[in-house]
Amino acid sequence: MIQRDGHCTSLWQNGETAYKPAPITDTKDFDVIVAGGGITGISTALLMAERGKRCLVLEARELCFGTTGGTTAHINTLLDTPYATIAKNFGKDNAKATAQAAQDALQLIRSNVSRLNIDCGFSEADAYLFAQNGDQDKTLQQLLDATVDAGVEAFAANNIPLPIPFTTAMRVKGQAKFHPVKYVFALARAFESLGGAILQQTRVTGVENNADGVTVETSQGRFVAKDLIYATHIPPGVNLLHLRCVPYRSYAMAVTLSDEAYPEDLSYDMEDPYHYYRTQMVNGQPYLIAGGKDHKTGETANAAAHFTQLESHIRKYFNVKEISYKWSSQYFEPADGLPYIGHLPGQQEHIYVATGFGGNGMTYSNVAAILLRDLVAKGAAQYETLFDPNRIKPVAGFKSFISHNADVVKQFVSKLLPHEDLKQLADMAPGEGKVVSYEDEKIAIHKDGKGGIHAVSPVCTHLQCEVKWNNAELSWDCPCHGARYDPDGNVLTGPASMSLEAAPMEKALEHSKK
Ligand code: FES
Repeated sequence: MIQRDGHCTSLWQNGETAYKPAPITDTKDFDVIVAGGGITGISTALLMAERGKRCLVLEARELCFGTTGGTTAHINTLLDTPYATIAKNFGKDNAKATAQAAQDALQLIRSNVSRLNIDCGFSEADAYLFAQNGDQDKTLQQLLDATVDAGVEAFAANNIPLPIPFTTAMRVKGQAKFHPVKYVFALARAFESLGGAILQQTRVTGVENNADGVTVETSQGRFVAKDLIYATHIPPGVNLLHLRCVPYRSYAMAVTLSDEAYPEDLSYDMEDPYHYYRTQMVNGQPYLIAGGKDHKTGETANAAAHFTQLESHIRKYFNVKEISYKWSSQYFEPADGLPYIGHLPGQQEHIYVATGFGGNGMTYSNVAAILLRDLVAKGAAQYETLFDPNRIKPVAGFKSFISHNADVVKQFVSKLLPHEDLKQLADMAPGEGKVVSYEDEKIAIHKDGKGGIHAVSPVCTHLQCEVKWNNAELSWDCPCHGARYDPDGNVLTGPASMSLEAAPMEKALEHSKK
């Protein structure tokens, strides 16, 4: 089974074995290095290789280890940021441009599936957005009008494909769904067949940028190229984009139904956070995939409870036979509603980034692949101004930007919380984790399923916020910019690139005996 950045197993890990790249013989003369082996990195690398660029993909773990292995893979032009909001923040023409970029992205996926003959369960679908009260009815009508204005084929619907009561609904044509890991693995094989190189278990640890290109230090040595693309979900290091993207976690389940009433299309309600639904056939078995119950990373005391809430929501409407998979994953919400794709802020030459996809990673990863291919290969790209990571939109997104950074401040202040009673440690249940104070030092302690104690420093190695325990994915999650670590402090998710410091085990153990 492939590995993922969490303890829970996603539907996409089922039956998949880790990608095995061909050995690399020539490690010199790369045009482009892509950091990150998820859908963004591999889609971009393939387009680069097709343009004749010699390209190297560096992946810190293995392909699809990050959010590509934990997405629910809705391929949509009905975006999380409504076209009404995009039109308000960026103008109607830019709402149309965003819709066109999303349609181009879908077309790229369609064309890859067809020309490379990829067996990934790809199918076309419609999307339904449905309201459940009078207020939502009004909003839905506005969203429908703006969606049509943006050039997306949408209309009012009298039915939805779910057994859930609704008042009004809209239907959007031209969406799709697939198995993301099978898709990415097939692209990776196509990339390698064009001479592309993939190195897994290779973490980027430093980058030097000069007039001729970049020198990339990694855990497996040094590589030189003309350009570097960060397709790492959020760029590492310290960057303006860490203040413009807010990390969230979303919860998903893949369930079988006793009445076999699997909905074919994609559906979304209008709650906040919203629920989402679709079906995917995997290895001959259909699964209803439902998700929701999102929250900011690190901001729940009990992540596992979000699964309980999601399960009761699903059971309320569907005849669930079995909960086959449940997992959670992370996404980065952009401050003004659109992703950041282009030159990395502070680095106008040679270093590029794609981040802030919100809940539309499948679509925006492919918007990024097209845009970055053109920006790197031709020096200019359609939509480069619209998605420019250096754009300044002080009004749009102001609320989420400010409130998130107030949270960041709160995290720093939380270091002043009163001393905890350390004796509680002895009573920690297996699977539990908490940050405790011990002789003026804080220690992040986790008791594993066998009673073993894992102790690390709770200080995030990115910008020193305090990590929080995630009892669903058994990870230490940083609420500030979304870095995540396993119980032993190893990095699961950037922007951190260094492990949490080990805490002296003696202290933790000594403490546990008190
Ligand atoms: Fe930035 Fe932790 S991710 S401080």
